[in-house]
Amino acid sequence: MNNLIMWRDMTRIAVGQMQPKILDKHENILRTKEILDKALEEDVEVLVLPELANSGYAFHSNLEVRLIADEIPDGEYCRILAEWSENSRMIVAGLCESDGKHVYNSAVVFGNGEYITTYKKINLFNRELDWFEPGQTEPPVFTFAGNRYGVMICFDWAFPEIARILALKGAQIILHPANLVLPYCQNAMVTRCIENRVFAATANRIGEERGLNFSGMSQIVNPSGEVIVRIPDGEIGLRYVDINPQKADNKMITERNDVIRDRTPELYDRLVFRR
Ligand code: ACM
Repeated sequence: MNNLIMWRDMTRIAVGQMQPKILDKHENILRTKEILDKALEEDVEVLVLPELANSGYAFHSNLEVRLIADEIPDGEYCRILAEWSENSRMIVAGLCESDGKHVYNSAVVFGNGEYITTYKKINLFNRELDWFEPGQTEPPVFTFAGNRYGVMICFDWAFPEIARILALKGAQIILHPANLVLPYCQNAMVTRCIENRVFAATANRIGEERGLNFSGMSQIVNPSGEVIVRIPDGEIGLRYVDINPQKADNKMITERNDVIRDRTPELYDRLVFRR
């Protein structure tokens, strides 16, 4: 009986590590499907794919970005994600998104065959500033199968406010598509998890693209800051773990210190107002 109760509390979450091919929509669909098929075989319930999984990363012109961008929720790449998510699964993937007017570095979420939400990346990294409109709205938190998920994208790791907002909005698990270039993020996400007492699943890409190298090492971290899944750099594939998201509801870092309740926002004006 105990085992049964425990099993129901558990969610199987996976990170997929892949190498998108720059500007090759159809090859990226094939490479994505390889991961999706593995995830089906492994009964994964929640799958995180890297940033810009439909397009590759190192663009050279606005025209390139516009040509490869997909529409949410009915673009070709999105339809594949939606289809995979049927039968009680949920997926988030980084998407080069066009809304017909602007292009965004987005993360799109589908669950149970339906569109759930989109996050448009707020903190654009380096040359991304040349290609994408920055997101103008708070990162989303949504409920799926009774658990609460938040979304951020790659370089948002360097802005602790983003993970904090997700935690304050109730996220138990941060879904984090990434295309990591700098070497700090995997460690930084350990800190984001400790300081917010949340899980985080970072799905990174690998390989070299037009002179940029990406670092792999996709990972899942628990609210105590332990790396419970890691995919070695250079490997394409998927790793999963069964987690109990409710572990993230306990915000006590010692028996007397609650990382959310014990904040002193009346002393933090500098954090929220430009000076
Ligand atoms: C990054 O935000 N893709 C480095």
